[in-house]
Amino acid sequence: MPRILSGIKPTGRLHIGNYFGMMRPAIDWQEKGEALYFIADYHALTTVHDPAALRANTRGVALDFLACGLDPAKAILFKQSDVPQVCELTWLLSVLTPMGLLERCHAYKDAVAKGFAPSHGLFAYPVLMAADILIYDSDIVPVGRDQKQHVEVTRDLAIKMNETFGANLLRLPEPSILPDLATIPGLDGQKMSKSYGNTIELFLEEKALKKKIMGIVTDSTPVEAPKDPATSSIVALYRLFASPADVVQMETDFRAGGFGYGDFKKRLFAAIWEHFAPARARREEIERDPGFIDAVLRSGAERANALANVTLTRVRKAMGL
Ligand code: ADP
Ligand code: TRP
Repeated sequence: MPRILSGIKPTGRLHIGNYFGMMRPAIDWQEKGEALYFIADYHALTTVHDPAALRANTRGVALDFLACGLDPAKAILFKQSDVPQVCELTWLLSVLTPMGLLERCHAYKDAVAKGFAPSHGLFAYPVLMAADILIYDSDIVPVGRDQKQHVEVTRDLAIKMNETFGANLLRLPEPSILPDLATIPGLDGQKMSKSYGNTIELFLEEKALKKKIMGIVTDSTPVEAPKDPATSSIVALYRLFASPADVVQMETDFRAGGFGYGDFKKRLFAAIWEHFAPARARREEIERDPGFIDAVLRSGAERANALANVTLTRVRKAMGL
């Protein structure tokens, strides 16, 4: 049975890009192997320096994940910082990590370009991520396309460790990326991302969701004119939620003309609202039971700790500690 691992940073409310790029594949994987999912609070600390916000976001991610179908009877859900052993493994990997390897990583360059102070934590981010993956002897890492490079760095580090301290010391992971849904567009047509402020959050109130959808950027083609479905982010998003027949209908109406963008946005809103109805109900149920999330995270931490200790003990010994 393969071991599957992924993590998500608690840096804000989860959005549709996170859902299709990471959460839904992760939830599907829980049926196919031994799945471990964690809330990457150590990673979030590279950019979030507000303790109350970090705590609230961490809980929010757990809540949203459970609402969307993560089943704690099948998958292990835990907080990254409940397994501080990853910090020790980060150091053990660091001593073999070439500077050049980290200098090539996009995420660091992107973060600095966005105005984050270039800290050691941001620079070493991929090493912590490698430790996350390697400490659980993970086989498969479901992530969005933007994280592929980090899984490649992880493999490079594992190979280096194995060459230096013993073959088979660390298991080499494979990334799993869904190609057709690889990048979900946001309100402005760019990749949906918190940092672009173009996100559609999963669990907005009805009014707030409608307002967001109505705010999708469109061109000024008049109502009566034909429109191109191939370049529209309304259609791209609709494809994720609507039945194939409804998608064909929207594409036909785009080409025919006579329909304004507002009409298409209303259809998109209805499809999204309906899609998340069961998850919304489940979310309300969880919110009524305040001890539930804590209990899930506590039990997840216990199980993750046991697995992490096996690898860390093996690596410490191999390295002479
Ligand atoms: P953000 O860009 O909003 O900060 P994160 O970087 O925290 O999102 O991404 C968390 C997970 O969700 C990652 O696995 C990432 O690949 C995936 N993801 C984020 N945005 C998208 C998107 N627009 N399309 C596909 N996957 C995405
Ligand atoms: N870096 C990932 C992101 O930005 C989150 C993450 C941290 C992760 N550690 C991981 C993902 C290990 C997969 C495996 O979304």
